[in-house]
Amino acid sequence: MKKLIVANWKMNYPDAKNWHNFRVSKKVEIVVCPPFTYLRQVASMRWPERISVGAQDVFWEEKGAYTGEISPTMLTGIGVRYVIIGHSERRLWLRETDEMINKKVAAALKAGLKVVLCVGEPLKVRQKGIAVAKAFVGNQLRKDLKKISGFRLQVAGLIVAYEPIWAIGTGRADLPEGSAAMAKFIREKLSSIFRVSGSALRVLYGGSVDAGNASEFLREKEIDGALVGGASLKRAEFQKIINAAF
Ligand code: PGA
Repeated sequence: MKKLIVANWKMNYPDAKNWHNFRVSKKVEIVVCPPFTYLRQVASMRWPERISVGAQDVFWEEKGAYTGEISPTMLTGIGVRYVIIGHSERRLWLRETDEMINKKVAAALKAGLKVVLCVGEPLKVRQKGIAVAKAFVGNQLRKDLKKISGFRLQVAGLIVAYEPIWAIGTGRADLPEGSAAMAKFIREKLSSIFRVSGSALRVLYGGSVDAGNASEFLREKEIDGALVGGASLKRAEFQKIINAAF
């Protein structure tokens, strides 16, 4: 399966000059996720093949009195193909719950968006051991995907990003073996709860991925790609991360 590298620009806008001049091998797919206000501009840029545009969030209703929200078809209507849902920063700052995330995932899949669902444990959970961290992540998956059929997840090609919260933006990435073990667990969990074949899913690692460590994660066979925050804002560094996936 091709490696998938997702650039999460968060609430930043990098200098967009030359951004589309990436070299991307046939073995890699890239998704660039700018803030909402730049989506149309970024979606209309002439990107190389294999680069798609994604949003960082979406609402679950199609239209109506939901001040400040953006619906799935508003995204697909301007050429957005992917959406990140359940990022830990939204869970923290916006108090997004698993129930809200569940509704967002269902609505986004229905509209034909490819979903990058973020899960991951806080430090105090990880400190209790890997088994407790796995139980935490398993519980998030169960709630975030509740009542969504395995068939739909499989056909849609769900993408799960394992992002341990303590590794995000801290410069302290997880160990590649640790995140590969968690990726394997996520695949097994989804296949046991939702009967989704592990090979139909993609599991990414995110949390302080940079040009220096990307190849260590991307060479793990359980890890299908990376969700990259800070390092995706620097064009040259992001190119190095793409190269690490060849
Ligand atoms: P980071 O962010 O690469 O800056 O740690 C990753 C993310 O939050 O998706």
